[in-house]
Formats: sequence, C-alpha cells, structure tokens
Amino acid sequence: MSKALDGVRILDFTHVQSGPTCTQLLAWFGADVIKVERAGEGDATRGQLRDIPDVDSLYFTMLNHNKRSITLDTKNPKGKQVLDTLIKQCDVLVENFAPGALDRMGVTWEHIQKLNPRMIVASVKGFGPGKYEDCKVYENVAQCAGGSASTTGFDDGPPMVTGAQIGDSGTGLHLALGIVAALYQRNTTGRGQKVLAPMQDAVLNLCRVKLRDQQRLERTGTMHEYPQYPDGEFGEAVPRAGNASGGGQPGWILKCKGWETDPNAYIYFITQAAVWKAICKVIGQEDWITEPAYATPQARLLHLKPIFARIEQWTMTKTKFEAMDILNEFDIPCGPILSMKEIAEDPSLRETGTIVEIDHPKRGKYLTVGNPIKMSDSATDVTRSPLLGEHTEEVLTQLGYSADDIAALRSERVI
Ligand code: COA
Repeated sequence: MSKALDGVRILDFTHVQSGPTCTQLLAWFGADVIKVERAGEGDATRGQLRDIPDVDSLYFTMLNHNKRSITLDTKNPKGKQVLDTLIKQCDVLVENFAPGALDRMGVTWEHIQKLNPRMIVASVKGFGPGKYEDCKVYENVAQCAGGSASTTGFDDGPPMVTGAQIGDSGTGLHLALGIVAALYQRNTTGRGQKVLAPMQDAVLNLCRVKLRDQQRLERTGTMHEYPQYPDGEFGEAVPRAGNASGGGQPGWILKCKGWETDPNAYIYFITQAAVWKAICKVIGQEDWITEPAYATPQARLLHLKPIFARIEQWTMTKTKFEAMDILNEFDIPCGPILSMKEIAEDPSLRETGTIVEIDHPKRGKYLTVGNPIKMSDSATDVTRSPLLGEHTEEVLTQLGYSADDIAALRSERVI
C-alpha cells in the first residue's frame, strides 16, 4: 500500500517533544524523515528520564519512530555544506530551536530560499511576534501562557497544569497540519513558505471555549454551568471550573465502588438533557422526572451539586465498569477514569494500533502510542526509533557523498 506522504523528504531539525511529535506524524504518513543531530550527543531527550543505563530513553524512542538519524556538526563549515546539500534535496525543514538559533547557524530564510525556493520551513516557537518572542519555552510555560493553567483545577486551589501535553504534542499537531497545507499549496504556487506554530497560540486554540466563556462572563456576570453558580461568586476572569463540563451538558467526576483504595475508581457522568428520564430511573429517583426543581435543564442548573451528590450515591454502589455497562444501555454519556495501566492493557487500543509494542535492539520490547489518525488508504507501520547516527552513511551516500568523503567527514568529527 502506498502512503499519503510518499516522496516527501523532511529535514528534521527538531528536538525534545514539540517538533519531534510533528515529524513523527509526517513519518507515519509516509514521509522520509531525516533527523539531524549533534554528533556524540544527539537530541537531549535520548539521555533524559532514562530507565535503563546508556539506552535511549522512552522519552526519545516514543517520539522518534520511523525516522532516520544522521549526526552532523552544523556549526562546522563542512557540516554546513552537508546541511546545504540536505536543504537542496528536502521538501520541508522542521525545527524547534530557541528563537534565533537557526539564523545564528547561518540558515536564514533567505539562505534557504536561494538554495531551494520550494522548501517549506516549519517552526515551533514558544511565542509568536511580540514581547515574549525571544523566550525559550517548555510545555508548562505554554500551558500557563495559553490560558490552560488559569482555567484548570479547582476554584479554591492554585492554577494547575494538565497531564495532556497540549503545549508540546498539541503544537506539534498544529505544525503538522500547517506543513501538509503548505505542501498542498506548493502544488499550485511552486513555492515554499514559512509555517509557524507558536506554543502559546496552539494552547489558546485548544482553550477556545474558555475565551468563549470570558466573553459570556463579561456580558452576563455569571455562567450557570460553572460550580461557582449559584452559591459562589464570579470575578472578572473565567474561573477554574473543577471537573465541570466545558459544554452545554453538565457533567462531573463521581466516585465509584472502591474509590477508598483505588485512586481511579471514578466515572465522568454527563446529565445530558435528552436522557434525564433514564438517569432518574437508573438512580431510583423517578420523582425528579416531574418535580419542577429538576424537570428542566434550566431548573437543574440551580441544583447541580445535590443532583451529582445523589447520582454519586448510586455510582458508589457500582464499579466504574459496571456503571458504564448499565449507563450505556440507556445511552447516558459517561466515561470511566482509566489509569495508564488500564490503557496499556486495553485490547481494543492494541487492535487498532493506537497502543503498539515495539522491539528495540538495545532496550528490548516497549509500548508506545501509535498513530492516532487512521486512514483507509495510508496504513501506519510503526518502526523503532533510530540509534544516534544510525543512518549517517546511508543518507550521505544518497546525497551523493563518496565513501572517501564520508571517511574524511568522520575523521574531522563533522559527522
Ligand atoms: N550541530 C551544531 N549545533 C547544533 C546542532 C548541530 N547538529 N543542533 C543544534 N545545535 C545548536 C543550536 O544551533 C543552538 O546553538 P546556539 O544557541 O549557539 O545558537 C544550540 O544547539 C541549542 O539550541 P536551543 O534550541 O537553544 O536548545 P536548548 O536546549 O538551550 O533549549 C528549548 C531548548 C526547547 C527551550 C528551545 O529549543 C526552545 O525554546 N525551542 C522552541 C520552543 C519549543 O519547541 N519548546 C518545546 C520543547 S518540547
């Protein structure tokens, strides 16, 4: 089977998480991704959070599947020449260096344009143009600056970051979409272009509903689906909403059987208006079907706390999976709080290739998250991440370098 991005060659100048998630996706869609790393060191994540001494970390392996790795000192003039050759022969350069690093290397947009006007240059930066544009940024900084931290957590607690890597992997996804769109546009213009995905902007895009709420709050002074209503107070800015649903159907996380000892014995329960009658029947509170204080969605907004407390009396008598089975029979939207252990063992996720077991020559078998995007005509085969410089000779040979050239570059520590 062919792949969607067959024939696209990526000069992958990314490191850590945001950039690598982007190029890994492109590799899964069939692009030839050549990861350029510093000789001897490589991507810093190879050595970070190691669970086995001297073996590429899971952090690295899980973000760099299906790529080829070459080592190259791009600050050495001969290394820079190799880099120029790569620029001439690749379609896209992806990078997420600190602001200005690429320019300091001499790889300016003008330089790239001169060598290859068709090249797309895609960058992740922490911030777009503005007062913070020169700042280095990691995941949680982006979550804080993009509106996620101020709106996550409970109202009586501090701002909170989320476990979902929306700043890094979230931005990588945005960048990948920009690259694919730029490749498509190049078909008609024949030109490359710059693609920028700032992490703050990507997080804000994912927090879009909170900017919606900011404007609702300013207009009406209140938001009835928030836990601050009706007893608490609203300030000037969107408050933290705990586990309240971000949409128009109130929801909350409720305890299930075993919660005293199992930190994940909980279920997310949504009191969708369409199934209110069924909810009342399941929990044995049929009088709430007609009782004016509970009968309409509008009336219920005044009583969400007692409503969820009553439903929780029922969920606490069931395990989260028993509750799921019963509630799903009535089309009541709900979701078990799954631990990473449960997800890792989930047979459906294994079958669909979203959880994949990979064999690595140095670390042996490990689990990874495969391609979450499924295409009917471009299947993803996840292959292991490359060892540092594993493909240096192979790639340089493809670029036209002779064995003698390669030996010379090696002896001069350029590769
Ligand atoms: N050969 C020679 N030099 C190389 C090289 C190579 N193959 N690859 C990288 N370098 C150099 C760069 O030119 C740069 O040198 P300079 O500072 O002298 O110009 C240097 O290595 C390090 O780059 P930098 O990006 O500053 O790394 P860092 O470890 O100090 O910072 C980040 C890491 C993530 C904070 C920073 O890269 C950043 O802010 N990136 C943008 C936002 C981002 O993606 N953040 C999320 C990361 S998950």
